[in-house]
Amino acid sequence: MTADVIAFCNQKGGVGKTTTVFHLAFAVAQAGRRALVIDMDPQGNVSTVLTKQPLERDDVGVADVLSEASNVTIVDALVPTIWPGVELVPTVPVNESLAYVRDQLVVAGAGRERRLRDAVDLLSNVYDVILIDCPPSLDLLTINALVAARKTVVVSQSALFSANGLARLRRTIDAVKRSYNPELELMGAIINMHEISTIGGREQLAEIATSINILGDTIPKRVVIKDSMEAQTSLQDWGTTKSRSLATIYRDTISTLTEGVS
Ligand SMILES: Nc1ncnc2c1ncn2[C@@H]1O[C@H](COP(=O)(O)OP(=O)(O)OP(=O)(O)O)[C@@H](O)[C@H]1O
Ligand SMILES: [Mg+2]
Repeated sequence: MTADVIAFCNQKGGVGKTTTVFHLAFAVAQAGRRALVIDMDPQGNVSTVLTKQPLERDDVGVADVLSEASNVTIVDALVPTIWPGVELVPTVPVNESLAYVRDQLVVAGAGRERRLRDAVDLLSNVYDVILIDCPPSLDLLTINALVAARKTVVVSQSALFSANGLARLRRTIDAVKRSYNPELELMGAIINMHEISTIGGREQLAEIATSINILGDTIPKRVVIKDSMEAQTSLQDWGTTKSRSLATIYRDTISTLTEGVS
């Protein structure tokens, strides 16, 4: 059994990459499958919402795994999360070490694109689904995520979807496929914070569908999606009818993205 390794990317900030990874991770665990989240964003947002205790300056994280100067392996960096069945390779936002490693990678030699891949390969029999939260840039951290992944998904807001941005991202994905990871598959886009009921929203969606496959149902803009994450609670456990029905969108989305998850 080899893990489905999925990178969630968009160089545009604030479109919902982290929120999507957070709610999808719960959906994986809820289906009785083992999930790992890897935080490749120096902001460390997904690490903050997935951990019970705040991460401290000396905690080990993905920066140590990627750094040439450290002997830390990915196994040393695994931490439990607020949910059983979901583990995390965190980024420790307070020590800015991932930003430092990102800058080191720019001047590093051969193999710098494969460091996360080599680490993730050690775990591919341990987890069913590995979700990688990417930073809002097309830097060597995102490239490491794309080299480590088998699949990639663009997360975008319909109103903020940019054909130019997608073209740039596609060029990066194609370059990664050519040089490092021929198996990488661009699955399509998850449309987040969608205003489904407006004519503008419907027109935007039709326009997006001309340039990329839209995965599953769009995710609407709902305060509970944000509030539940900030309260470190799943939509299921939030317990309202509305939140539970939103949880089903994430369940269906992860089913679309992986095999055997129902
Ligand atoms: N479907 C949604 N409904 C309502 N609020 C949402 C939804 N998705 C995301 N948000 C909110 O939008 C903001 C941006 O989301 P998020 O941090 O997930 O984006 P991101 O793409 O990871 O950003 P960055 O590029 O900075 O990492 C957050 O405050 C989040 O709570
Ligand atoms: Mg984010």
